[in-house]
Amino acid sequence: MSFRSTIAGWLAEETGLSRDQIETWLEIPPQQEMGDFAFPCFRLAKHLRRSPVQIAEDFVAKAGELDGIDDVRAVSGYLNFYVSRGSYVATTVARVLSVADNLGRQQIGTGQKVVVEYSSPNIAKPFHVGHAFTTILGHALYRLHDWLGYETVRVNHLGDYGTQFGKLIVAWRLWGDEAAVRDNPIGELLRIYVRFHEEAQTNPDLDDQAREAFRLLEAGSPEEQALWQKFRDLSLTSFEAVYKRLGVSFDSYRGESFYSSRIPDVIDLLKKKELLVESDGAQVVMLDEYKLPPCIILKSDGTTIYASRDIAAVLYRWEQYHFAKNIYVVGTPQALHFRQVFAVLDKAGIAAASQCVHVGFGLVKFADRKLSTRSGDVIFLSELLEESVEKTRAIIKENARLRQTDMCDQEIDEVAEKVGLGAVIYTFLKNGRERDIVFSWEEMLDFDGDSAPYVQYTYARARSILRKADPDDLPERMVTAKQLTCLATEDEFALAKLLDGFDKAIQKAAELYEPYLLVRQVTALARAFNKYYNHESILKTDDPALRRARLALLQAVCQAIRVGLDLVGISVVERM
Ligand code: ARG
Repeated sequence: MSFRSTIAGWLAEETGLSRDQIETWLEIPPQQEMGDFAFPCFRLAKHLRRSPVQIAEDFVAKAGELDGIDDVRAVSGYLNFYVSRGSYVATTVARVLSVADNLGRQQIGTGQKVVVEYSSPNIAKPFHVGHAFTTILGHALYRLHDWLGYETVRVNHLGDYGTQFGKLIVAWRLWGDEAAVRDNPIGELLRIYVRFHEEAQTNPDLDDQAREAFRLLEAGSPEEQALWQKFRDLSLTSFEAVYKRLGVSFDSYRGESFYSSRIPDVIDLLKKKELLVESDGAQVVMLDEYKLPPCIILKSDGTTIYASRDIAAVLYRWEQYHFAKNIYVVGTPQALHFRQVFAVLDKAGIAAASQCVHVGFGLVKFADRKLSTRSGDVIFLSELLEESVEKTRAIIKENARLRQTDMCDQEIDEVAEKVGLGAVIYTFLKNGRERDIVFSWEEMLDFDGDSAPYVQYTYARARSILRKADPDDLPERMVTAKQLTCLATEDEFALAKLLDGFDKAIQKAAELYEPYLLVRQVTALARAFNKYYNHESILKTDDPALRRARLALLQAVCQAIRVGLDLVGISVVERM
């Protein structure tokens, strides 16, 4: 039994509340002096009709022998529990080993569907670093929800609709180059798009042609449709190459174009609810009571806009999935847009509106170079990944030479790929998502800093100890806690606490849509392990029972790092 359940079981029995409820209230105090677990008694104040201070004192008086708990103290309305080191480390390590690569996996989401919308790049446009942020963050949020038992639907809401397709069609007919577009789809589409804008400045007739092409596209004209389809397919092929490299995939690519045909349903609904009003020729929904500007549904020329397609998308997803949550991983600059969309739905009496969540994130900047390189151009994610992998390869090559390892070029390439991508992913996920990100190669590839390479290197180091160990000393999956009670040093205790915190970190990361909570947990574990490793030479431990127990702890640490990194999309390596 875990300490949490021992404590929760005791309090449940004393109060008549459910053990699960009590367990969710249990906290891990920020400081060691405050014990290993703390229970905030204000949670019971109403139920027991006494003050938290009084409750805490009463409980201390009643606390007899609790299994594995050395001491219980009452401090300012909190019950602080001090667990017995040996048995705490032992039970934790045994538990982590027994769940193996399912660490932190839970069933809290069973029976509930969660739509996670992320990435959503625009067709015929480069996949810029902002899209990298949503892709990486969204993927982590999907993995976390999946891990917690939710049924997930991964949606890529492609920007595959809009007047720019009229321009592209005209540009393609004038300057399109079949061979070039096969070679470099996005680059070529971008080239003709930029050229269109340049030439339209002196030749306004081009804009008229573009409007006509778009009108034909909307009307379903086969030629225009075929070109649009071509641009979409070409773009997707190029996006998918990046997704594949990152290990990201989707269940649906239904984008804006799909919803444009469903706008009439939106109009019907809003008309029926008498919410559409005319404003300067446009049809809008007033949102004063939400303290928001009006949401435009139809422009004065009758064309639909971004927001109306998003309203249609919520209705469709609700009908299709009956989601418990519909999550939008989209940059914070679009916060107002989503508030308006959800408010319109709420005003129309659509209950699903309250289950829609906008998960925003900050801007991406570069310390080493300007974000904008060429005119109207941005850094492509594929270039960023490539640069990171190349830089990593150089470092690993140099380390291999210095340490005279026998890593062959192929292994170096594979390791560089995982570490180089890891470095980029880590940078996006190491802080709260709303903070702006400043990319700096020095920090990203700092093997001692808060970085993926640091954690991956720590993992490789720990694995090498396990490889060097006598196989007879390695733990079976089912080690009994009894075999591990000899683990009782400060460092071992610190490691156990971090291992024990994984379930909560995973849960919180999903609940708050903040994968950094898990990233920090993994990094803290790696730091604690390095500290331990510098104090204790595990393989040279004389006492065989202690040596085995330490190897078991090491194994548990490796498992936790592997699971933690994997959940945010970073791979481990065996050597580097
Ligand atoms: N394609 C948009 C962009 O690149 C993002 C789409 C966000 N999702 C949505 N449902 N509006 O800015």
